[in-house]
Amino acid sequence: MDYSIKDINLYKEGKKKVKWAFQHMKVLSLLRETHSKEKIFKGTKIGCCLHITSETANLVITLKKCGADVFLCASNPLSTQDDVAAYLVKEEKISVFGKKGESKEEYYENIKNVMKRNLHFVVDDGGDLISSLHRNEKFAENIIGATEETTTGVIRLRNLAKKKLLKFPVIAVNDAKTKYLFDNRYGTGQSTVDGFLRATNILLAGKTVVICGYGWCGRGIARRFSGMGAKVIITEVNPLRALEATLDGFYVMPISEAAKLGDIFITSTGNTSVITVKEIKKMKDGVILGNAGHFNVEIDIKGIEEITKNKVKIRDGLEEYTLKDGKKIYILGEGRLLNLACAEGHPSSVMDMSFSNQFLSLKYLKENPSLPPNVYNVPSEIDMKIAELKLKSMGIKIDRLSKIQKKYISSWELGT
Ligand code: ADE
Repeated sequence: MDYSIKDINLYKEGKKKVKWAFQHMKVLSLLRETHSKEKIFKGTKIGCCLHITSETANLVITLKKCGADVFLCASNPLSTQDDVAAYLVKEEKISVFGKKGESKEEYYENIKNVMKRNLHFVVDDGGDLISSLHRNEKFAENIIGATEETTTGVIRLRNLAKKKLLKFPVIAVNDAKTKYLFDNRYGTGQSTVDGFLRATNILLAGKTVVICGYGWCGRGIARRFSGMGAKVIITEVNPLRALEATLDGFYVMPISEAAKLGDIFITSTGNTSVITVKEIKKMKDGVILGNAGHFNVEIDIKGIEEITKNKVKIRDGLEEYTLKDGKKIYILGEGRLLNLACAEGHPSSVMDMSFSNQFLSLKYLKENPSLPPNVYNVPSEIDMKIAELKLKSMGIKIDRLSKIQKKYISSWELGT
């Protein structure tokens, strides 16, 4: 068994974290219990490119207990929990490739270490493993299918499919309702505030927070910062979302105006060059900038470095940039997704739903091995089943339609 991690001696701390997380992953725990007896993934090799966290650990352990050979690499150079990686290697005997703070070269080397295994299934977060497999087709020959965890990855894969270049079927786990309505909204909302506070420890009440992007993540972030007493401004390019943000009670304006007003800026658009030197020049002294989108392209760090005369680390995850004109700005987690770079990502109970979608989507691909290459939605029965199981695990009961209601709702004759 080969691996590449920071320090295997960290495993005891990692073990405690993974067990604690599992207590909050009741749906995944049930799936593990139900499917590990039949070893439903026996004889398969699954390559995962995910944030190496305690929640991911519980997914890959579940896959292994269900019979798979699992290979795990990081989906971001700054999100790996080194103690969790150590535990997976030491006690769960899973091949892990990733260290917090790895270089770009090490990051792609680790992806290669997973990619080269003649994989049957792939679980990706952001699309880097799948796109690497498309650049090295010889490694993709045995792939039956893949799943994609996040909005950015799904967009990349749909672009690949549109160009008819996609080599195998991929299930867009991100687009399941039990994923984006909870993980993207409540998970990113809470973990972004968490990362922000761990790195800065500043009071949010009374601050003006500019959130760029009002997708599901942006909505969650806006709601949580607002709940902490911040005045929230939204910037958007989509008129529908901008309208929704307005009626949700937030200020909406272009970034050129918001730049002058904000104390804190969080990007969450999935696009590039959202905050560039042009916007920085309009900002107040002392602003704090962070990114909650998947890739570190939303804030133009390179451009900022070019107008910087001095850079100092202030705290873990927080750097002070003194610009050539004397203004100071502060950047969280090197502009990488701050909820994972400065904190531990989404809480376990929300990842429970995301990773149960991953598990059941892989099972679906295994049971349907001849799907043509395309991007598929998670079957709605899976989505509904996860919602049902999650509610049950929370001890929440709901009503059922009566006979008369079923008849009414399926008729067209009955009106006033
Ligand atoms: N993405 C966001 N939060 C995460 C977590 N806790 N584990 C894995 N992937 C994540």
